[in-house]
Amino acid sequence: MPLTIDVLTLFPRMLDGFMAGSILGKGLAAGHLTVNVRDLRDWTTDKHRTADDRPFGGGAGMVMKPGPVFAAIEQLQTPGCRRIYLTPDGVPLSPALAHTLSREKHLILLSGHYEGIDQRIRDTIIDQEISIGDYVLTNGTLAAAVVIDALARFIPGVLGEEKSLTHESFTSTLLDFPQYTRPAEFRGMSVPEVLLSGNHAEIEKWRHARQMEKTRQVRPDLLK
Ligand code: ADE
Repeated sequence: MPLTIDVLTLFPRMLDGFMAGSILGKGLAAGHLTVNVRDLRDWTTDKHRTADDRPFGGGAGMVMKPGPVFAAIEQLQTPGCRRIYLTPDGVPLSPALAHTLSREKHLILLSGHYEGIDQRIRDTIIDQEISIGDYVLTNGTLAAAVVIDALARFIPGVLGEEKSLTHESFTSTLLDFPQYTRPAEFRGMSVPEVLLSGNHAEIEKWRHARQMEKTRQVRPDLLK
């Protein structure tokens, strides 16, 4: 059964372009995965469709109310589904985590206000909290898109060529090697000779050397 993902957000329109876009859009169209973008306000009960309120104890900003979130998750959840909250204080997204998520049947991704959501949501109907990096977005909707994009690459058929996965950054612990395409000479800049040589052993060697070089320069922590 293909993976189904429900995204719960106060800003569903933020995902319009993402859903239509290139490779992921094709994966969706081909049925390799299903993504449902849900407007949290559909589970509000007052006439102003209020989804947030001022924090108890004072302080700036607004906090997402528990009512609509509980109602939405209780309606959407299925046995065994994984309910995830996107937050900068969650566990960091990694290739291993993206791979694990790609093998689930059903994910619910809850995107919150950056100021936060009522703690009772996190304490009771969230299974896992994920961060996409040490910076703070205005809300978790783009973070949900990042998680979906990262996991979709592990779903068979989503990337055109199965092969493109095996070579890429982070399936190994090295950064990627440089790529070139035609023309072999462009504005006086030529493609490295070895890539035109047809000698596959030499090409592999060259690529690995470039990966080591790049990783040492940019991410020496990955070599430890
Ligand atoms: N919401 C706001 N910032 C975020 C981040 N860095 N990761 C996940 N969710 C977020």
